[in-house]
Amino acid sequence: MKALVLAGGSGSRMRPFTHSFAKQLVPVANKPVLFYGLEAIRDAGIHEVGIVVGATAREIRDAVGDGSRFGLKVTYLRQDAPRGLAHAVLIAREYLGDDDFVMYLGDNFIMGGIEDFVDRFRRDRPHAQILLTEVPDPRPFGVAELGSGGRVVGLEEKPERPKSDLILVGVYLFGPAVHEAVAGLRPSRRGELEITDAVQRLIDRGRRVESTRLSGYWKDTGNVDDMLEVNRLVLETLEPSAEAGEVDGTGELIGRVVLGAGARVLGSRVVGPVVIGPGSVVRDSYVGPFTSIDRDCTVTGSEIEHSIVLRGARIDGVGRIRSSLIGREARVVPAPRVPNTHRLLLGDHSSVQISR
Ligand code: TTP
Repeated sequence: MKALVLAGGSGSRMRPFTHSFAKQLVPVANKPVLFYGLEAIRDAGIHEVGIVVGATAREIRDAVGDGSRFGLKVTYLRQDAPRGLAHAVLIAREYLGDDDFVMYLGDNFIMGGIEDFVDRFRRDRPHAQILLTEVPDPRPFGVAELGSGGRVVGLEEKPERPKSDLILVGVYLFGPAVHEAVAGLRPSRRGELEITDAVQRLIDRGRRVESTRLSGYWKDTGNVDDMLEVNRLVLETLEPSAEAGEVDGTGELIGRVVLGAGARVLGSRVVGPVVIGPGSVVRDSYVGPFTSIDRDCTVTGSEIEHSIVLRGARIDGVGRIRSSLIGREARVVPAPRVPNTHRLLLGDHSSVQISR
């Protein structure tokens, strides 16, 4: 069995961030969201992984390499443009051969892994198996209609009047029959080859399409609020450890705090759950709950909470920041005005002046 991980796409919901950065590499508790998926695949006993890449191919390759550090053998598959999830299957035809495979959307986060889902597929061998979860408003998603015994009888992509509140989570299992269903698909109204159309074709041709209900937490991290939510949940599961870092006499750590090697907390109060990456320095500041600060950042004379700060960012002398995503090497510095709270979505290398 192989895995097909989708790490291309346009990431339009996270612009301007995704102009310069692959959304699958946004860190959750200082680890790219894509890595959680790769680990889940490995833990389900799958070792051959094809990663579909687009405009951000180089960054994804730099981050994942040949996959050996995850215990995986990774092959990169180039998609010329984000032409849809079924298009990714189409271009992976040769790589996949006639093997069964799990298709995993690289920006999806699933707490608790996919082992049970994969085991059931291996046991029952349907032509396709989809993973479903209930949501209050299914309209922005792929929606499934179920018949007896969890058989899927119909699928609709982003319906105006959904037939159920069960939506497709970004993990699918397929046998080789999916390739016939994908071949000859026409682009949908939004111009993409839809995987829901391919699965619907399997159903229409009398193939066996089964479903499994997801019991744990799942999120499609397509926008900043979703990212922050996943970050919060993962931080809540951290084991505190501060030994690798340094806290000076006036520094204080409260609750779950993880300090990376050489991270320093000087004259500051850090209230967990918080992770502060290797080499980062927090000076004369407050870092509040649900904040991830990546490696080599500095936070000076500022307050920040419920935020994700990427590698090498500098936040200096700006009142309180909350619910923000701050890109690599970004600079946040004061402008000579009255203080306020600020909500930021900053692309990599951006530089912003903020009132204080
Ligand atoms: P989406 O989040 O559905 O699409 P997107 O990345 O284009 O984002 P947006 O809606 O904000 O514009 O994609 C789900 C995952 O699949 C994501 O990791 C990107 C990836 N993907 C591809 O690799 N190829 C594609 O053609 C598409 C549409 C998505």
